[in-house]
Formats: sequence, C-alpha cells, structure tokens
Amino acid sequence: MRCMIGEPVIREARPEDLAEIIGINMISLREHYPEYFWRDHLRLWGKAFLVAELGGRIVGYIMTRVERSIGHFGSLIPRKLGHIVSIAVLPQFRRRGIATKLMEEALKRLKEIYGVKEVYLEVRVSNLPAIKLYEKLGFVKVRRIKYYYLDGEDAWLMAKEV
Ligand code: ACO
Ligand code: ZN
Repeated sequence: MRCMIGEPVIREARPEDLAEIIGINMISLREHYPEYFWRDHLRLWGKAFLVAELGGRIVGYIMTRVERSIGHFGSLIPRKLGHIVSIAVLPQFRRRGIATKLMEEALKRLKEIYGVKEVYLEVRVSNLPAIKLYEKLGFVKVRRIKYYYLDGEDAWLMAKEV
C-alpha cells in the first residue's frame, strides 16, 4: 500500500504559484525558462497550466500551450495541437500517480476547452521514467530529434491524438 499522504488536488495554476513552480522546475529538470515565459503561458493557456497541491503545498505542475500545424499523424490540414512544454513532480512525491493525474487533466482540458486534436511533447531519450509515463497514457514515439538539448542529447518527439 502507498503511504497515506492524502490525495493531491489538481487545479489551475495562479500567478502567486509561479515561484514554487519554478522552484520545482529548477530541481527537477535541466530545461529552465525566464519568469516571463512561465507568466505568458499562464496568461495565454492558463486553463491547461495545472498544479498538484497537497497539504497546502505545490508538489507538481504541468505547463502547456496551444499551437497550430499539420501535426504528426498525417493530417494535410493544419489543426490545433497541444504542446506539453514542461511537467515535473517533487522527488519525494513521485511514483504516486501525480504526474498521471496532471497529464490526464491537462489532456482533457486541451481537448475540451482549447479544441486540440493532438498533443505532443519532447523528452530526453535517456528519461525512461517520463517515456514510460507518456507511453502508459497512449503517446507514441514519432521521431528522434538529433541534438535537441543544449548538452547534445537527442529527444523523442512523442504524440497522441485526443
Ligand atoms: N521508473 C520507471 N517508471 C516510472 C518511473 C521511474 N522512476 N516514474 C514513473 N514511471 C512510470 C511508471 O510506469 C508509472 O506507473 P507505476 O508507478 O504504476 O509503475 C507511470 O510512469 C506513472 O507514474 P506517476 O507516479 O504518475 O509519475 P510521477 O508523479 O512520479 O512523475 C515524472 C513522473 C514527472 C517523470 C517525474 O519522475 C519527474 O518529475 N521527473 C523529473 C522531471 C521530468 O523528467 N519531467 C519530464 C520531462 S519531459 C517534459 O517535460 C515534456
Ligand atoms: Zn517542447
């Protein structure tokens, strides 16, 4: 049985959450962004910029945006795509299904509120936990992007129709 810490609440991020969100990003990932980047995503696509809150503390986030292009499933007509820009959960709260909850709620909102037909993301080829998470949610590897990251690592572009 998982230890009893209660269920996280998944809710929309608010401007006053950004410092905590950026803190989680700093310790979890090598991809960091200036504050205005976070703020712009919150302003423009805030219905699908979510946090997981547990006991009054933010323990995870997902930041997304909406784009328009032909996408990755052979469509010839530009369509709305959801882009998962960044997701992370604090190390001590991992493996409790929190990222799954954040992803499921973001996918639902990208589809129902923003009308996207497909969702995609990039992930380091070495990031097996994240790749596993995305595959469990139905994402497939579309192509490998050489030297995608600043340190030279390749990315998998993964996508899912919704
Ligand atoms: N090893 C193997 N599989 C894993 C692991 C792991 N360490 N972590 C998650 N998974 C897989 C498992 O299949 C898991 O299901 P299970 O626990 O029933 O076996 C499934 O993913 C779902 O796990 P969750 O508990 O929902 O995921 P979690 O809340 O732990 O968060 C995350 C996963 C976000 C990848 C977390 O490990 C993290 O914050 N990592 C650092 C940041 C990061 O890599 N973010 C993704 C970068 S790519 C991007 O942002 C677009
Ligand atoms: Zn991206």
